[in-house]
Amino acid sequence: MAYEVLVRSDIEPYHTIIPMIEQFSQICRWNPLDPLPSADILRSVEGVYNYGHYAFTADYMDQMPGLRVISNFGVGVDHIDLKGAKERGIPVGNTPNVLDGATADMTFGLLLAGARNIVRGDHFARGPDFVEYDPSFMLGQEVHQQVLGIVGLGNIGYQVARRAQGFDMKVLYHNRNRNAKAEADLGVLYASLDELLAQSDFVALNVPLNDETRGMIGRRELDLMKKSAVLVNAARGGVVDHEALLQTLVAGKLHAAALDVTEPEPLPRDHPLLALDNVIVIPHLGSATEQTRQAMSERSVGNLLAGLKGEELLSRIV
Ligand code: 8YV
Repeated sequence: MAYEVLVRSDIEPYHTIIPMIEQFSQICRWNPLDPLPSADILRSVEGVYNYGHYAFTADYMDQMPGLRVISNFGVGVDHIDLKGAKERGIPVGNTPNVLDGATADMTFGLLLAGARNIVRGDHFARGPDFVEYDPSFMLGQEVHQQVLGIVGLGNIGYQVARRAQGFDMKVLYHNRNRNAKAEADLGVLYASLDELLAQSDFVALNVPLNDETRGMIGRRELDLMKKSAVLVNAARGGVVDHEALLQTLVAGKLHAAALDVTEPEPLPRDHPLLALDNVIVIPHLGSATEQTRQAMSERSVGNLLAGLKGEELLSRIV
């Protein structure tokens, strides 16, 4: 049983993925920056394995009449036309849960780095200006016993809230729906977005990107935040209006922003946000650990195989 699978990626996938898919499939590679493969190839495609964040549109689906499953490496599927897949009866698999811990760890790492000048301090300690220790320099913001506002209390947000408990933080959350389990388990308190922004010392964004969350943190929202606050984005760049963020930081109305994600990604090398020393930017490393990459690989290849066999996917978003 050799299925025909289109692996869609502009880079080499994590090293265990291709050998796993090869066990049950013939593989055709498609770099999304190149034109589509020939119509002959597309006609034979039964499964698409998507690696990366390039848009996968309904138009592509229509060119693959035998397509039975789309499997995405990653939990966020904002780049896939889910409505188009649903209308065509094509299941879409993703990788929730297996990356919650790693992404929550990174959210907390960014929070600490933003609060305590870890990146700035590292640069300074290596540079020529560090000639004398001064207890008065680079004073940050306290983390323990402060208020953390989590925007998006799904699986990842829940794990962020758990970590906050160890720091004796008060946790507010904002979500489309109340999360009764988190309220009962962790004592987190529901707040409107405006209340959360106004009361939090740290705001962590852990929402998926969709029509409701695109541009959710704009000028008005940033203006509501405390001047001493730190904004952490480990969700998607499109959740934050980068122009508004830039102006807020330049005006000194925020202590720091710590970004795992940006839009576009990467930012142009001369983007003014990259020149600010109260901005931390890392290259989308939220789930980037060996263990989590392996778990994501197994889950996404498992989804692919299940879809090809006509079985229920392990994690299905559509
Ligand atoms: C993944 C992510 O590494 O799962 C997601 O939604 O954002 C990342 O953690 C990425 O999607 C894989 O490209």
